Amino acid sequence: MSPTLPVGIHDLCFTTGYYVLDHNEMARHYGVDPDKYRLGIGQDSMSVPAPDEDIVTMAAAAAQPVLARHGADTIRTVLLATETGVDQAKAAGLFVHALLGLPSSTRVVELKQACYGATAALQLAAGLVYRDPTQSVLVIGTDIARYDLGSPGEATEGAAAVAMLVRAAPAVLRLDSTSGLYANDVMDFWRPNYRATALVDGKTSIEAYLQAVQGAWKDYAEQGGRPLEEFEAFCYHQPFTKMAHKAHRHLAACAGLGQSDADIRAALRHTTSYNRLIGNSYTASLYLALASLLDHSEDLSGKPIAMLSYGSGSIAEFFGGTVVPGYREQLRTAAHQEAVRRRVPIGYAEYRALHERALVTDGGEHLIEAESGGPFRLAGIRGHKRVYDTADRRTATA
Ligand code: CAA
Repeated sequence: MSPTLPVGIHDLCFTTGYYVLDHNEMARHYGVDPDKYRLGIGQDSMSVPAPDEDIVTMAAAAAQPVLARHGADTIRTVLLATETGVDQAKAAGLFVHALLGLPSSTRVVELKQACYGATAALQLAAGLVYRDPTQSVLVIGTDIARYDLGSPGEATEGAAAVAMLVRAAPAVLRLDSTSGLYANDVMDFWRPNYRATALVDGKTSIEAYLQAVQGAWKDYAEQGGRPLEEFEAFCYHQPFTKMAHKAHRHLAACAGLGQSDADIRAALRHTTSYNRLIGNSYTASLYLALASLLDHSEDLSGKPIAMLSYGSGSIAEFFGGTVVPGYREQLRTAAHQEAVRRRVPIGYAEYRALHERALVTDGGEHLIEAESGGPFRLAGIRGHKRVYDTADRRTATA
């Protein structure tokens, strides 16, 4: 097998939650200047899932169009990354596997390392495809970002899932084999098993992210990666979009490149459109930045793109890829824009009620009303088991 075999992202599709809270609503509620959100952290609104949505329903909804286009024949592995796990033992991907009707001859695993998880999945998927180029891997990043009400993190909540088909001779992005890595045990953001909301030391987390950018870049350069100037655009993990600006300024300084504000804006141009409106989607965030770039840029065929993945705790990876000529035929721009546009606006009180809602834990049977109208829904909890349903089955039994 040739080590130069191109492997990468063949298709990419994301979806988001059913509701949306505009940051003007949050600003009104807390009596703060809306510019703190719009300009200060670079966020306009955030997705809020309906009660019948969770990471499983979003993941299945993101993956369904990918399977509809390419079939499932070559998929022998599903890697689902999340930090919003629904079970301490069972992989959420198994619910997705069932909802999508994937064959039983499939390896299904869940990965966790905060927001970095989907990048780990992508790199592991590339390794599996190198080993057997006849196989493809379904990689999913799916998360609901949730902080305590009234905490500084609240304005950076969001929700989304991204599904990517990784295979040989990809149609969208060929991954470079060089990666820069950085690991550091730091408590900047974490969620103990007994909590539904994350804990974060905001300022420490920003410092930890920047330190990780520096470490990953240093390793990338030592591994013989491309010079920074070679990249056409830079996709960052975006807990809030202003973070991408901070990160890129820091990266350019580390690489010894003088960058004006205009240079930084140009390097990030088109990468923040979706995250500005959706909010933090943890594992999916970096790949929403990539989708935003591909969906909104002029033709990028043959151009190298840089990717910086950060997961608190912490791990960072800097890697590159080349956009494949003809990639535009694969894009799902209209569907992505529609997923963002069709969200139903809610006020702060409705958002708060959704935020405070918790699943019952008494082991009884609890049905959840159909609300989101998506292709998949969480129908209830029975005997401590999640029960999912598809639109098809709903129609069949209606
Ligand atoms: N007009 C314009 N700008 C304004 C403004 C106004 N009226 N009011 C404030 N600002 C600016 C501030 O000057 C500040 O800018 P700088 O960052 O450039 O200094 C910015 O808005 C934010 O203001 P504060 O620092 O006062 O905001 P805050 O303390 O309330 O919260 C936060 C900011 C710490 C990022 C908080 O949102 C948070 O804790 N978020 C969650 C943690 C997070 O996302 N960390 C990122 C790195 S960790 C990571 O990436 C992993 C992950 O996904 C969580």
